[in-house]
Amino acid sequence: GRSGPLAGRKVVVTAGGTQEPIDAVRVITNRSSGKQGYALAQAALDVGAEVVLITTSTALTPPYGARVIMVRTAADMLEAVLREIQDAEALLMAAAVADFRPRVVHGQKIKKEDGIPALELEATPDILMAVAEQRAQLGYPRRVIGFAAESDDLLIHAQEKLQRKRLDMIVANDISATDAGFEVDTNRVTLLFADGRIQALPLMSKEAVAEAIIQQLVAMLT
Ligand code: C5P
Repeated sequence: GRSGPLAGRKVVVTAGGTQEPIDAVRVITNRSSGKQGYALAQAALDVGAEVVLITTSTALTPPYGARVIMVRTAADMLEAVLREIQDAEALLMAAAVADFRPRVVHGQKIKKEDGIPALELEATPDILMAVAEQRAQLGYPRRVIGFAAESDDLLIHAQEKLQRKRLDMIVANDISATDAGFEVDTNRVTLLFADGRIQALPLMSKEAVAEAIIQQLVAMLT
């Protein structure tokens, strides 16, 4: 087995943007690259954890040693997360989950000749809310870390999500800056904790951000 402070302990990481089908060929998705989530999986492996990476398809190669579960939709991700956290020490919910999906999914490709379709949307399940409920029942996972990507009033919104989703920590990500957030290799985040502590980190690589987050997780679990 692996060695390190989380040796043999299961950590579940989600990554990538979900894909919500419109019809047989078209999807609604977002600009998430999966980079921060994959870096978290690697950083968790580096401290000895048994890592399960629940991911949508991305351009990235999964870190060697992680067990990879591929999903497409928010509903698929919900099912995989609720199953995998039952014996996990921690969930790191880095995926960019769609908030809305088409209410009706057409089995065939919608034809241009049939005119421009109207898309009616409905809410997707909130995975972290479902996790909070299952955790209240089963006691697992022991720690839950969420992410908040905001372009305005970042810390206020992050604080609100931390409480509403009953998280131990939230990683607040300012997506209005061009050197942080989606697609780029660097990130500037602030960590907010359930006990009220706040730690602002400077602009760093997504790998360094991942190491800082995992360091905090290790402190919470040991
Ligand atoms: O409310 P918002 O989507 O910004 O919250 C972000 C956090 O919630 C992220 O950790 C994201 O993975 C998670 N989330 C979720 N289920 C959703 C939407 C977001 O678990 N349907």
